[in-house]
Amino acid sequence: MKKTLAIWFCLVLLISSSVLPVIGNADELLTATAQQNNHIRALAASCAACHGTLGNAVLLPNVGSKVGQANAVLAGMAVSAFTSKMLGFRDGSEKATVMHHHAKGLSLDEINQLAVHFSQQKPVVTSPLKPQTLQAEHEPL
Ligand code: HEC
Repeated sequence: MKKTLAIWFCLVLLISSSVLPVIGNADELLTATAQQNNHIRALAASCAACHGTLGNAVLLPNVGSKVGQANAVLAGMAVSAFTSKMLGFRDGSEKATVMHHHAKGLSLDEINQLAVHFSQQKPVVTSPLKPQTLQAEHEPL
C-alpha cells in the first residue's frame, strides 16, 4: 500500500512539474504572440507601398497600348509559394529588381510568419487607378 502511494505521489509530481510551468507561462506566451503579431503586421505594412493594402496590389491604368499591370498580389498566396520566393530572393537564386533587398533584411522566422499573415488575407478585386494629368505649373498659393 505504501509503495503504491509513493508511486502515485511520484506520478503526480512528475505530471505537475511538466504541465504547470506551461500553464504558469500562458500569459507570457500570449503577450509574446501579440507582440510578435504586431511586429509582423508592421513588417507587412512596409510591403504595402508596392503590394497594396493587406497584399492587394492596385492595378495601374492602361496607357495607350501599354497594358497596366500590378505588382504581385500577396493576399491569399500559398505559404509554400511565398516562402520559396522569399528565400530565393534572399539567396539570389530568384531574379529580382528590388525584392532581394527586402528579403535580405528578414529572418527565416519573419519570412515564415509573413507567409502565414499574407496567406490569411482575402484577395479583393481592385479597380484600376484612373489616369491623371499632372501639371508642371501649380497655382500660386
Ligand atoms: C519597392 C516596391 C516593393 C516593396 C516595398 C516590396 N516588394 Fe515584393 N515585389 C516587388 C517587385 C517589383 C516584385 C517582382 C520581383 C522583383 O523585380 O524584385 C516583387 C515580388 C514579390 C514576391 C513574389 C511574388 C510572386 O508571385 O512572384 C513576393 C512574395 C514579395 N514580393 C513579397 C514582398 C514582401 C513580403 C514585402 C515586404 C517585406 C515586399 N514584397 C515589399 C516590389 C516590392
